Amino acid sequence: MRGKEMKKVVGFGYHKTNAVYMRRFKNGKWESGKLVKEDQFSISVMAPALHYGQQCFEGLKAYLRKDGKVNLFRISDNARRFQSSCERLLMPQLPVEDFIEGVKATVLENKDFLPPYGTEGTLYIRPLMIGVGPKLGLGAADEFLFIVIVSPVGAYIGDPKPIKVVTSEYDRAAPFGTGDVKVGGNYAGSVFALEIAKKEGFQDVLFLDPKTHTKIEEVGAANFYGITFDNKYLTPKSPSILNSITNRALKTLAKDKLGLEVIEGDIYIDKMEHIKEAAACGTALLITPIGSITHLGKTFTFTDHEKIGPYSQQLKELLTGIQFGSIADPYGWITTIN
Ligand SMILES: Cc1ncc(COP(=O)(O)O)c(C=O)c1O
Repeated sequence: MRGKEMKKVVGFGYHKTNAVYMRRFKNGKWESGKLVKEDQFSISVMAPALHYGQQCFEGLKAYLRKDGKVNLFRISDNARRFQSSCERLLMPQLPVEDFIEGVKATVLENKDFLPPYGTEGTLYIRPLMIGVGPKLGLGAADEFLFIVIVSPVGAYIGDPKPIKVVTSEYDRAAPFGTGDVKVGGNYAGSVFALEIAKKEGFQDVLFLDPKTHTKIEEVGAANFYGITFDNKYLTPKSPSILNSITNRALKTLAKDKLGLEVIEGDIYIDKMEHIKEAAACGTALLITPIGSITHLGKTFTFTDHEKIGPYSQQLKELLTGIQFGSIADPYGWITTIN
């Protein structure tokens, strides 16, 4: 199914496209990258990516503009975060310009799969690095693959109504662990908590700080922010949170365009009365309003729980306007490719 054949792309599923980008790191250097048709390949059964989780990834999107060109959003930030993840897992740091080149080549080769302008659909981009050189003992591989995969996607959570989330007794990250980098292990450890939340009728899980379990950290695969009654944009700051590129953009927009004071700090789970609207934010979830949080059997309902709150709505319009090119980008966040 090609993007332009889809009137509206529904959900966050994988659709195979024309090509996947592959680039190998071998004998201490990067070989040249190539686009391949197959989305399958073979690696050693002893690849450390399979046994010891030596892998990391990124998530960003390509947006089809009204004029047919394609926008990438803050791609250098994804490239730099990818480097931090690689460094933390003893993998070679791909130069920023090489990351960008691999992403651009993959998007352009799969341009037909970009959902039409005006449908809110996008081409999700998944850069990935895996340790493939065989190794039995614990340690880093000596050979790596950098891969870029794309897939047309719609909304991560289909229902536009605010979601209900629940806290978990489990953690996604340890206090001095890998929570601030985008490595598969963080997600492997968190799907169990997500599954429990879903079985209990919630749409997502809210993780608390792993040390004290008293402060809000992150929603499953997104950052958290709240808007207070005295009009402040409040978002947690913690070394075990993934530094969301979407949240970074929202902090700027909240301050510059909505005149909100931005505060990064502790948000205690038992003290949320000062927050009127809350949301999860990230590349996949965009801005997903949160209607209520359930913690230890008690539910806190935000004032704006029936529909997206007015500040989140404005932030969403500004952000998506810049991403799709209908609002001028004064920040240099957009890379347009053709
Ligand atoms: C754990 C986690 N937090 C936050 C985010 C949001 O980050 P970004 O806005 O860079 O997509 C993501 C998604 O990548 C995530 O997986």
